[in-house]
Amino acid sequence: MSTTHDIPLVRFLARAGIGSRRYCDNLIALGRVTLNSAPATPGARVVPGRDQIRVNGSIIEEAPVLLYYLVYKPKGYLVSDSDPENRPLARDLLPDLGMRMFPVGRLDFQTEGALMFTNDGLWADRVAHPRNTIPKTYLAKVRNIPSRTTLQRWLAGIRDQGQILKAREAVIERTTGRNAWVRITLTGGANRQVRRMGEATGHPVVKLIRLSIGDVHLKDMKPGDVRELTVREVKSFLRKNFAESTPSSPESDSRSNPKTPRKIVRQPMSEKRSARSLHADPPTRHRSATASPRKRTDQGKAPRRPPEQPSNHPDRSRKRR
Ligand code: URA
Repeated sequence: MSTTHDIPLVRFLARAGIGSRRYCDNLIALGRVTLNSAPATPGARVVPGRDQIRVNGSIIEEAPVLLYYLVYKPKGYLVSDSDPENRPLARDLLPDLGMRMFPVGRLDFQTEGALMFTNDGLWADRVAHPRNTIPKTYLAKVRNIPSRTTLQRWLAGIRDQGQILKAREAVIERTTGRNAWVRITLTGGANRQVRRMGEATGHPVVKLIRLSIGDVHLKDMKPGDVRELTVREVKSFLRKNFAESTPSSPESDSRSNPKTPRKIVRQPMSEKRSARSLHADPPTRHRSATASPRKRTDQGKAPRRPPEQPSNHPDRSRKRR
């Protein structure tokens, strides 16, 4: 029987920054979690402060400081904990925060742009939950200029490998010779979705930048830049129904407001807007009080790898949202 103070073990682990609930479920299933010296079972409940919980032998304390970061992942960085081929890792762009940070969602090796990291497993679950249809906006440089019919197909949905891939919005921002820069907003999260949609319709993607995730925008960030999320940004993902909300967007106009119906816009060429200009909003920095974001200046050097360490630091002061 559960007491009034017990909580699911998996929630305790997620809150302690071990990873998302699913990740923690796996750890339990793999026998890597013990509860009072016995292997923990799925569905176990714990009383924080009374029970002793270990992951891979290390004692896990209650929730540490909760941190939320945005990284501008450059092209050629891997979203992974490690890489046998020793390729640069997106997580190495974070400053040394003294705790394990994990990515919220993924971004292809060749794709650049907005990627969030946190040590708050519960928040990450909310953000990544498929029910929480968070719009993600991409700028894609594609081969050949998509016709109106193609853009309509992207909005209607393309069947690919047993999945329906669709965009909420597809706007041609600019054309350069035989290529087009297309702004695409997705609310689904299929693997390599933009690239697959392009490939399936004769428009291979040659460059892909994720501009925003919900209300979190790159704004004037450059590849390799890192900043903390603002409280407002963190909370914005906790709205009940993201799809019905109105984001405060630096690029906000009738085309990027999720309230508007799905829409195709082919701009007249006289109104062409530079794809680069999407990054040219006035600088708005939200610098960290707890850790100064590291601007990557060592472009040619292998990035520094923070040491792997248990994700819990009882010596840190505790801060709850
Ligand atoms: N779509 C892609 O093709 N790649 C990404 O990384 C994200 C969306």
